[in-house]
Amino acid sequence: MVRTPRILMCEPEYYGIEYEINPWMNRQVRSDPDESRRQWWRLHDVLRDLGVTIARLDPVPGLPDLVFTANAGLVFHKTFISSRFRHGVRQGETPVFERWASAHGFEVVTLPPRYHFEGAGDALFCGEALFAGYRFRSDARSHQWVGERLGVAVLPLELVDPRFYHLDTCFCPLSEDEAIYYPGAFDDYGRSVLQDRIPNLLEVSAEEAVSFSCNAVVVGKTVILNDGSPKLARALQGWGYEVRPLRLSEFIKAGGSAKCLTLRIDGEEAAAWKHDPAAVGVAR
Ligand code: ARG
Repeated sequence: MVRTPRILMCEPEYYGIEYEINPWMNRQVRSDPDESRRQWWRLHDVLRDLGVTIARLDPVPGLPDLVFTANAGLVFHKTFISSRFRHGVRQGETPVFERWASAHGFEVVTLPPRYHFEGAGDALFCGEALFAGYRFRSDARSHQWVGERLGVAVLPLELVDPRFYHLDTCFCPLSEDEAIYYPGAFDDYGRSVLQDRIPNLLEVSAEEAVSFSCNAVVVGKTVILNDGSPKLARALQGWGYEVRPLRLSEFIKAGGSAKCLTLRIDGEEAAAWKHDPAAVGVAR
């Protein structure tokens, strides 16, 4: 049975650079509302043309980062582990995302108080394991809690460069045994975990990593990413992927790009549980 990929997105109606919570954000460098809308719709249309069903979350005034739906939570089968944002300015997004998830048939699970967890921005399945970035946003103990709750193996990876503050800015699983990563965002231990656990790893250079090239959306054998990564694009083509570079400069001003603007609600391509639900831990 072929299921259509499903992705949650939120139009940038109230998007803007209103605070500074990562090194990319600077209130003096404002986003252009019309250009933001154009870039967002281009991403939307490219995904739709690839056969993706796009679920639309209504934008909310006063929540400029709600566009980054990757941070809503982590999806596992019909379980939605809701994010607990580190910064107060994003905490108002949580009830909005939770309302959406429960209205769409997910069981919403929340972490214990004072645990920080930023959803699919920091927790990405590759094969059977959940690769989990911590330090700037999510806590290592949150990932352990999530792993126990879902019955999946968690591989915690410390993020060491504040520009790559979410795991999805420096690591992107492509399939169950392939991923791209920027080695400079991890310590030696993190790099060795990735090298040991993922048979085919594609390294992204420092110059291309700052173009958010790891922040890619994978749909089947197509990879959608910010433009400005010709070397990575060629390497991906060599691996049999079709590459769709898009201009997402308005969102890089907030520290996000293609992947951050999406939440795969039917499971990422690289997640083993999506392809063989019976074989991998089923949520309680
Ligand atoms: N301004 C947002 C923040 O700092 C950007 C989030 C980007 N999302 C992501 N999944 N990397 O939280």
